[in-house]
Amino acid sequence: MKPAENVRAAEVVVPCAELEPTLAFFTERLGFRVESIMPADDPSIAVVSGHGLRLRFERGASGPAGTLRLACDDPEALGDGARVLVAPNGLRIELAPAAPPLVLPPVQPAFVLARANDATWVRGRAGMRYRDLIPGRLGGRYVASHICITDGGPVPDYVHFHRVCFQLIYCHRGWVRVVYEDQGAPFLMQAGDCVLQPPEIRHRVLASSPGLEVIEVTCPAVHETCADHELALPTPHARPERRFGGQRFVRHEAERARWQAWRLAGFECRDLGIAEATDGLASACVARPVATTRASAPAEHDSELHFVFVLQGSAKLDYGGRIEPLGAGDSVVIPAGHRHAFAACSEDLELLEVSSPSADQGTRSSTS
Ligand SMILES: [Fe+2]
Repeated sequence: MKPAENVRAAEVVVPCAELEPTLAFFTERLGFRVESIMPADDPSIAVVSGHGLRLRFERGASGPAGTLRLACDDPEALGDGARVLVAPNGLRIELAPAAPPLVLPPVQPAFVLARANDATWVRGRAGMRYRDLIPGRLGGRYVASHICITDGGPVPDYVHFHRVCFQLIYCHRGWVRVVYEDQGAPFLMQAGDCVLQPPEIRHRVLASSPGLEVIEVTCPAVHETCADHELALPTPHARPERRFGGQRFVRHEAERARWQAWRLAGFECRDLGIAEATDGLASACVARPVATTRASAPAEHDSELHFVFVLQGSAKLDYGGRIEPLGAGDSVVIPAGHRHAFAACSEDLELLEVSSPSADQGTRSSTS
């Protein structure tokens, strides 16, 4: 018999000197209900349940009373203005907001260069390895990660969502099979493909090839990932126009993409559809030099995030006169108001560029 089938109830044992006032507190003040009490003539054990929890109060039980955290829609109302209550048996009750507002730290602009040769890979969950592309996180506002799954096969993921403002995933190498809420059947993201994961869209990673590499850019850097055990994916109806937190889901397929002129002369790009789906909150594209171009015109921008990852090839970044050679796997964050250009571009150069707000709104060629 599996443990999940075998166990009928889980109870936290809490010491309790006086049952009666503690039961009254939990039932009347906090909305629990009594499940059992014994013995009838002189109760010494009582079980209450509520809010997904069972508590077993035992007279004479040893140990500290502990702390209980209640996630509330309105903590102030439940606590009459207090955020901490103490039950008659000494149990400390913390009252917390069930859905705390997303905290967006102000951006701290910085020039950040992350070289593939200096990379430190950290082992994350489910066999994934992470490389931090913006170690300072621009004050906590953004995180950009190069993520690698060495061994392919099924991924032990579950339906979940992220409390974020913005999240983009670009498949750099290999493939990954994913499924998204209201976006139809599971599909394969292949090298060059990209998705925009709007805030709180439910999704699940199903399988990957060996050597999968993705680039993920998210705002804010620290955010909550929540499981959804109720929703099954795929959902029965595809609703590609649905908005999640004001954003539409985007699946960009490299194979079907059109190349068009980039905002910097001498380059062309495939737009990843992010600006349109986010109403200009962010934009992303893959850019490459046209056949005869070896350098871009100087430019500067007004965006709070301007992140460039070298997908392949090489170039020299001219950052206000500072020359930095860039190769595949290197990335750079260029702060607003700083003149920069790409020179000595190799023929096969390809750059992934992510901007927020949209680069089309905030980037301009610089002739001065
Ligand atoms: Fe996720």
